[in-house]
Amino acid sequence: MARISITVDGVRYDDDVQPRTLLVHHLRERLGKVGTVVGCDTSNCGSCTVLMAGEAVKSCTVLAVQADGKDVTTVEGLGDGGLHPVQQAFHDCHALQCGFCTPGMIMTAVDLLAENPDPTDAEIREGLEGNLCRCTGYQNIVRAVRDAATAMRSAQAPAPEPASEEVSA
Ligand code: FES
Ligand code: FES
Repeated sequence: MARISITVDGVRYDDDVQPRTLLVHHLRERLGKVGTVVGCDTSNCGSCTVLMAGEAVKSCTVLAVQADGKDVTTVEGLGDGGLHPVQQAFHDCHALQCGFCTPGMIMTAVDLLAENPDPTDAEIREGLEGNLCRCTGYQNIVRAVRDAATAMRSAQAPAPEPASEEVSA
């Protein structure tokens, strides 16, 4: 057994784990973070994607011990009291598909937009290539990521200067 300490969705958890325990199993079975799912057994689908130290990782390819001392964000911890702009855009653009591919698509999109706040459609498709939808419903997902990018950029844009009022004598 190894003692690990991981901060998941803002809460610190100290646990004893088997050295071979995968992060995805630790998240789901020990910490109850069932929004992170296992969609394949080949490290292909991306359904299990979480952010570890701010970067998207397939949590079925990471050992829980490798997350020791790190911050992990799952789809359940993304929104800060409400929906994250990427979650909102997936909702608005009808990009929410099945419960398997959607969490991973959202987490990968968050990382993609952190690195490239204004991606082209081609860059979005390339950024999401590690996430599979067996139904090939990618069109609305690309649209959602584009819309989320726009929303996030305008949220960060500085507010316009208030027009100075002229005082007439
Ligand atoms: S469950 Fe991790 S890539 Fe499919
Ligand atoms: S695999 Fe989730 S909608 Fe296609």
